[in-house]
Amino acid sequence: MASRTSLMVTESAAILKRFYFLERELIHLAAGWVPGTAHWESKLLLPEILWESSILARELRQRVLELRFPERRIALESGEAPLFGFVRRWGHAPNAVAFVVVLGDVIKPFMLDLYQRYASRADQLDDGPSQFILRHGMADLEGQIARLRTTATAALAAFPAEAKVAREWSAAVAQSLQRWPHDDFFSTVPAPPGPPTHFTALEKPLAIARAAARDPRFHRVAFAWPDRHSPGNAGDGMQLRARQAVHHVNEVWAAEMAAACLHDLGPAAPPEFLEDAARWCYDEIRHCRMGYERLKAWGFRDAEIPLDSFSYDAGAGVDAITRLGIIFYFEATYIHTKKERTTKFAAMGDRLSSHDMDFDWADELIHTAYGKRWLGEFLRQSGDERTLSQVKDAARAAVLQKLAAADEDDKQASAAIFQRMLDKLTAPGSTTAAAS
Ligand SMILES: [Fe+2]
Ligand SMILES: [Fe+2]
Repeated sequence: MASRTSLMVTESAAILKRFYFLERELIHLAAGWVPGTAHWESKLLLPEILWESSILARELRQRVLELRFPERRIALESGEAPLFGFVRRWGHAPNAVAFVVVLGDVIKPFMLDLYQRYASRADQLDDGPSQFILRHGMADLEGQIARLRTTATAALAAFPAEAKVAREWSAAVAQSLQRWPHDDFFSTVPAPPGPPTHFTALEKPLAIARAAARDPRFHRVAFAWPDRHSPGNAGDGMQLRARQAVHHVNEVWAAEMAAACLHDLGPAAPPEFLEDAARWCYDEIRHCRMGYERLKAWGFRDAEIPLDSFSYDAGAGVDAITRLGIIFYFEATYIHTKKERTTKFAAMGDRLSSHDMDFDWADELIHTAYGKRWLGEFLRQSGDERTLSQVKDAARAAVLQKLAAADEDDKQASAAIFQRMLDKLTAPGSTTAAAS
């Protein structure tokens, strides 16, 4: 009986609330690292992981509200602030590789341990809904740990200059948690772990990158396709298929912009913003992967795949709400092409491109709703007098400024990419048709 009755409702709600804030902090930190992460596989993985975490965060929050019904307020008490101040410092990794390493080797395993401790004390019958939520959260965590470790190993090998300090950072965070009794997390006024001196020596406050990092294994260009600097005719046939794949892989910028909005605006936003922005970020990285997998299936090596970043970089000199406007501006401007291309690609016999566009279209419809809702909310919340269309104008101006900076070399580079890719795709024996 002792084990079944060890946690009453008030204590359970207090612990689950801390889990919610823990997930939330980690989502904001991971989002803050997405734009500055160069390593390709890490860039693809972080958005998916933060989206999974947002599902758990949503369920935890909902459960706390149930246990405290009808109380609606969920906030950290002053006694909890030092612990969460320490949690925030996990994001102070000295470089992007270090963040991925510490996430998979130390932080996610630590969270798994905390959830296991709660699950072993909570009652299977009386607190069944919490047990259910954590069971699924723990299964996701185990999957995340395995994927993060594989990705971190690849990142350490691909970025040897960052590897030494990345390993040292992971060891320092691990040490701070090893000498701290994990049960302290559950105490009424939890004292944070005291970090070792080398933790403090290595940590670098997280400053989100405003110029997106790109993996040097790829072909880095100012504009990945001619119609990215001079919007115009998208072409037809093989040209349209190639264009779509290149545009899709370059939607990495949209994942970065959604991550930036989450990181910048999330901490003061209503909780539903975290869920929407995390989903937005994950969707855009799936669109990016659609293009990447398509190009790989067509036989392109990473070094032949052009990546630009002008649409993300266009947000560097504007405020956070206008950055949200930039992603919304692109969504609203190009959404009409998606449905039409689903049909076009199917008519060409390219069922995979058609399938990609169909699901892309479904995602984009929700994104425009996210854009409208949150731009409106943030303008209201901050007392910003601008209308939605004024924000869109400011966003458009920031993007046009980047486009105006395209010089002859940039344009020639885009034209050369275009020609090389089409030559490869239309060469005798090309694998394009087989991959359709
Ligand atoms: Fe997209
Ligand atoms: Fe989108």
